[in-house]
This record gives sequence, C-alpha cells and structure tokens, in this order.
Amino acid sequence: SHSSSPSPTSLQPSTYREYEPEEIDWDNLGFKVMPTDYMFIAKSCLDGNFEAGQLNPFGNIQLSPSAGILNYGQGLIEGTKAYRREDGRIYVFRPQDSAIRMQIGAERLCMPFPSVDQFVDAVKQTALANKRWIPPAGKGSLYIRPLLMGSGAVLGVAPAPEYTFLVYSCPVGIYLKDGTGALSLYVEEEFHRSALGGAGGIKSITNYAPVMKAMRNAKGKGFTDVLYLDSVNNKYIEEASSSNIFLVKGKVISTPKANGTILEGVTKKSVIDIAHDLGYQVEERMIEAEELITADEVFCTGTALGVAAVGSVTYKGKRIEYKISSETISQQLNSRLVGIQRGTIEDKRNWIVEV
Ligand code: COI
Repeated sequence: SHSSSPSPTSLQPSTYREYEPEEIDWDNLGFKVMPTDYMFIAKSCLDGNFEAGQLNPFGNIQLSPSAGILNYGQGLIEGTKAYRREDGRIYVFRPQDSAIRMQIGAERLCMPFPSVDQFVDAVKQTALANKRWIPPAGKGSLYIRPLLMGSGAVLGVAPAPEYTFLVYSCPVGIYLKDGTGALSLYVEEEFHRSALGGAGGIKSITNYAPVMKAMRNAKGKGFTDVLYLDSVNNKYIEEASSSNIFLVKGKVISTPKANGTILEGVTKKSVIDIAHDLGYQVEERMIEAEELITADEVFCTGTALGVAAVGSVTYKGKRIEYKISSETISQQLNSRLVGIQRGTIEDKRNWIVEV
C-alpha cells in the first residue's frame, strides 16, 4: 500500500550529507546525527486527516518563528530500528506499536495523528529510500525517528493550525554504554523527570530538555545516565533519561508499574513477554530505590539502548555494584530479543515487519 511518493530514483537525494555510506566505519557506530538521503513528510490541518505525504531530500525544514512546536513544545518523537539481514532483506521492529503510542501522545497534546497504516508505510518508505545507510547484518541498525509536530503558527497557548509528520533516519550503533558495555546510574534526588498528570507517559519532546541538567551533572561525575525517582515521595524508581529499568532478584524480574509517569517502552513490553517465555516471573509494581541494594542484577531497556546491563547504581552516596557477565538474565533476554530482531530466532508474535 505504498502512497504516491516519487520513487527514490526520481528524486535527487540530499546534498546535505558530508560523506557517503562507503566511508562509514560500521564497526564503530555510535549514536549521533548522520544525514542520510531522504526523509518523509506529510501535513495535516488541526481537524483534518494527514495527506498521503512523500519522500523529500533530507535537509533543513522551514518553520514559522511562531510554530507551535518551537513556542509551546507541541511535539512528539518516536523511535524504531531497521535491520539488514545476511540475505539483504530489511525488517523493522514493532512499528505498529510506535504508531499507536504516537496516537495516544497526539491525543494528549491535542494534535491530529497519522493512521497506523500511514505511519508504518512512512517508516517503511524511509527505511527503503535510505537502504544504503542501513549497516551490514550484525553491525548496528538504521534508527528511524518519526516526529509529529505543531508546525503552524500560534501566539496564544493553543493547538497549532497545521501539523507535520516527518520521518528521518540515521545509522546507529551503541548508545550511552561505557567501555565495558554497561551503564553506571546516578539516582537523582533533586530533579524529577515526570509528575502525576503530566506528560511523562508519552514521548513528548518536553520530557527531554528538563533532564539534561541532571544528565550533565551525572556525566560530570563519571556516570553514564540518571535514574529518576517519583515526584510525590522521592522514593520509588521510575526510569532513566531515555530507557526503562528492571531489577532481578532470584527468578523474579521487577519493573516499575506505569501510572502515567513512565514511558511505556516497546522494548520493555517485548522484554516482559520474552521473560515470561523463558519461565521468569515478572512483577510490575512500585519499587523503592532501597531495593536496588539487594538486587542481583539491574538492567535498562529502550529502542536506542537495547537491553543494557547496569554495572552500578549510586544512591544516597552509596555505590552498589552488579555482576556483568554472559551468564546474566539480562544477557539471556538480550540475546533472545536481538535474535528475533535480526531473524535468527522465530518471531512468534509478529513483531518484525519486512520493508
Ligand atoms: C529511544 O530509545 O528510541 C529513545 O527514544 C531514546 C532517545 C531519546 C535517544
């Protein structure tokens, strides 16, 4: 069901990029901006449906200085990844789940939203058009970043009159982890990421700038990321800056229960299903930061991050260290998830979608 977009060959690719895919060191991909060839754009008015949209050369976009997203933060991000297989086929991971999450977020921010089919089609078109930027099998992925934004002009606080759905992509490898492949987390007691009734449960762009100061402080002290506490009691763990958190004790895996303040991660949901398949008990409940002290393992999950072992957590000045090895439960969950994403393990739940 591809829309009326011109085929990539009939459009000039971006002249924005600084180098060609042939120049990329695929073994050392980090997580940084790398202009690719095309991006997808579709527009809508406030009360309308999104037009079919089309691929455009990747590049800067024009916005009114009064655009809703620039002035009042009316915007959402999403994230999914495309993987190349040995046989050259390309698959994306759970794009429908991202589409639905964008719809829920759009409803919260008073924005119109693309249908699930439009969203998934735009993700596929973006992946295909930028195929030469998708890392070789086993070496990273193409991170696909859908944006939904109030692009029309407003002066008073109100929903913008026009909306833009834009999808761009970028080859990526490792995000946030240190040299050992693990995270070291600092439990933040001054700043909060999210409040009850706020926007912490959706992928609002407004969830990210306010955590940068805590991240910068933590990075300055040598930590890789911050773990946030609930804003009511300053006691229950919620999530890290861009990933969900899990604790393991014996055969029981626990993760904070979502109550509107925690982002419902697609990787988190996937890991919970995989943990059940492997015979673990999974509890979604309120978890006191004190419980970090007695956990056997801690790990974080996210689209950008994957499943990442936590090597240490520092809480109230005390550093708690966890084992990092190939024998851990987080490693077991990670290899199962990666296997499904890359096609070496059967995908029983139709998580992967061929492009
Ligand atoms: C993702 O995991 O896709 C995220 O949204 C994290 C991102 C903010 C780097």
